[in-house]
Amino acid sequence: MSKFTFDPTIYNKSDNKPISTVLEKELSRRGVLKRGGILAAFGAVASTGLVGCDSSSSSSNSTTPASQDSSLTLGFDSIPGSKLDSVAVPSGYSAQVLAPWGTPLNSNANPWKIDGSNTSDDQLNSVGMHHDGMHFFPLEGSSTEGLLCVNHEYIDRKALHPEGRVHAPVKYDEIVPPFAAEEARKEIYAHGVSVIHIRLTSGVWDVVANSPYNNRFTSATEMDISGPVAGSELLQTPYTESRGKLNIARGTMNNCGNGHTPWGTYLTCEENWPGYFVHKGTMTEGEDRIGFGDRGSRYQWDTIQGDSVIGEFSRFNITPTGANATEDYRNEANGHGYIVEIDPFSPGSKAVKRTAMGRFRHEDCSFGKVEAGKPIVYYSGHDGRFEYIYKFVSKELWAPEDANSTNKLATGAKYLDEGVLYVAQFNESGKGVWVPLVASTPIPGTDETLGGRLGSLANIILNTPLAADWVKATPMDRPEWTAVDPVTGSVYVTLTNNTKRNNTDDSTSNDTNVANPRDNNKFGHIIRWDEGSEATSFSWEFFLFGSPAAGDVQTNLSGLTSANELASPDGLVFDDRGILWVQTDNGADEVEENTNDQMLAIIPSELSSKGDKAVLGSENQDQLKRFFVGPNGSEVTGLAFTGDNKNFFINIQHPGNWPAYGTRNAAEASSDDVRPRAATVVITKDDSGEIAV
Ligand code: FEO
Ligand code: CA
Ligand code: CA
Ligand code: CA
Repeated sequence: MSKFTFDPTIYNKSDNKPISTVLEKELSRRGVLKRGGILAAFGAVASTGLVGCDSSSSSSNSTTPASQDSSLTLGFDSIPGSKLDSVAVPSGYSAQVLAPWGTPLNSNANPWKIDGSNTSDDQLNSVGMHHDGMHFFPLEGSSTEGLLCVNHEYIDRKALHPEGRVHAPVKYDEIVPPFAAEEARKEIYAHGVSVIHIRLTSGVWDVVANSPYNNRFTSATEMDISGPVAGSELLQTPYTESRGKLNIARGTMNNCGNGHTPWGTYLTCEENWPGYFVHKGTMTEGEDRIGFGDRGSRYQWDTIQGDSVIGEFSRFNITPTGANATEDYRNEANGHGYIVEIDPFSPGSKAVKRTAMGRFRHEDCSFGKVEAGKPIVYYSGHDGRFEYIYKFVSKELWAPEDANSTNKLATGAKYLDEGVLYVAQFNESGKGVWVPLVASTPIPGTDETLGGRLGSLANIILNTPLAADWVKATPMDRPEWTAVDPVTGSVYVTLTNNTKRNNTDDSTSNDTNVANPRDNNKFGHIIRWDEGSEATSFSWEFFLFGSPAAGDVQTNLSGLTSANELASPDGLVFDDRGILWVQTDNGADEVEENTNDQMLAIIPSELSSKGDKAVLGSENQDQLKRFFVGPNGSEVTGLAFTGDNKNFFINIQHPGNWPAYGTRNAAEASSDDVRPRAATVVITKDDSGEIAV
């Protein structure tokens, strides 16, 4: 994301908030409330090194800890913060640039041009812009060759176009077609996903030119819709009419974090997609809750005249203007807001939007522990202030032979098209409840059910946040990435920040709650949970609070130092050894003045010498180490690994003035003003060993 594309509007107008006294009770129960007041309680917590921890809360969880290599430790020294037009890594490591924006994927694209003059057709056949979530799929188990799937979240018009786009078309009479159409088309094609065949040759990673695996999915690519919403008349548009289908949508937008599947496909998550549309009419309650607006679509594509295919640009205006849905694009956005499955190994296959997994601003998704005979479970957060955390539980039970499926999208349909979507309620005493978003679920305080109000499951899915409001989900401080510990099965989520939490103003709907306890949560936090014996129960605790090192004891609750201070945790990925990698999208000056965005490492399953599950506090904060710092202006987001853990891929999004032209050395500073290019950076160890240990 996106501190640039984040929509600060609070769409959750519901009143789901435990009162602040609940928090005091919560901390008191944990024996940390020494004297009155929430902040005093936090001070006491920090000094014990147990940050709001109920370290016994996971003892009854149903996950079975895997055998654990007790010798696993982080074998590098935390690096200092840095503020340079270059990346920083620990000594003994190297970094190289791979597949920056505009890298040709096939011979239909001209090489990237330094003056920004590449055409939309070049862009359609080249790597997209603003890299975000990604995953490495090895070819035949190789750690030196594979398919890198990369999300392209949004665009920087200034870098994309020759002279920047100082004059965005906001009125029809300001547009000079066809230039504007060509320009908008290039923007649309710079979004989406790249599938990039990469190979390590003589120590250098590079794109395999013209590989048949190289592939692009953009904000215009036709995709299939499956699950409960497929076939709904609420997908009907002039385009679906022309195609004679009600199970298709065009394009994927604002692809932020990602997931992948146990059967070897990629999942890309549609995050701040509502902003790409404009709605100038009277909205339904559900449309208003999702967050459409009348102030114009983000890139004004709806204003471009000169559709070369039906609705190419006009579809971004979802205002009802015709007699019915075949005469306008009122239903266009109903095809967006999903998790999308891509089979990178079948370049001719269509992407599939898996609607059963819910419709909201998906940050990313992660699967829970995979066990034979148990459902497949996915977690996904809705990135917005006061938004919710969801999980999807498949109807089908896992059959391990499906890991080797030769029809991967059919396997995706088997596990991801039918199941139950739940939303999280975080309660006192470290307890939590997953509330199913199904027709029979009662709406508290009424004698109605979700089905009674919303009808079909398709309509419940289309109105996921509204349904979640009604069943009293817990409003969180902007849920970003989720990650599942391969050793313990615990699920982690970053809550990046929420400066609108306010316990003292007149509004009660923005009050703190038991899982989001900080007023003006400027620095963010990470919580974790373990599933209970039922699909509807879990137990949770705080893991880490972001803070500047200079923060007072009431702020720096995890005792961070200059070696690991962080704000706005965002990207969150476990590698298969159990190392948790935390990436930041910093919005807080107090940390930003000391370091650019960064990536830190910690091994949660090794934090405690007593065998219980410790959280991060002043006594063990040195186990959290800074591994990587990005260049000026950038966000560090997206992480992938080769199977041998000897190559790490990290994405640099929206750098200010990087990388320098003609260099593969990611650490080389750029001295002149350059056209910045989002890129993947590959980290290797100089002794060819495993990263980080
Ligand atoms: Fe795309 Fe919430 O970051
Ligand atoms: Ca993010
Ligand atoms: Ca308040
Ligand atoms: Ca973010």
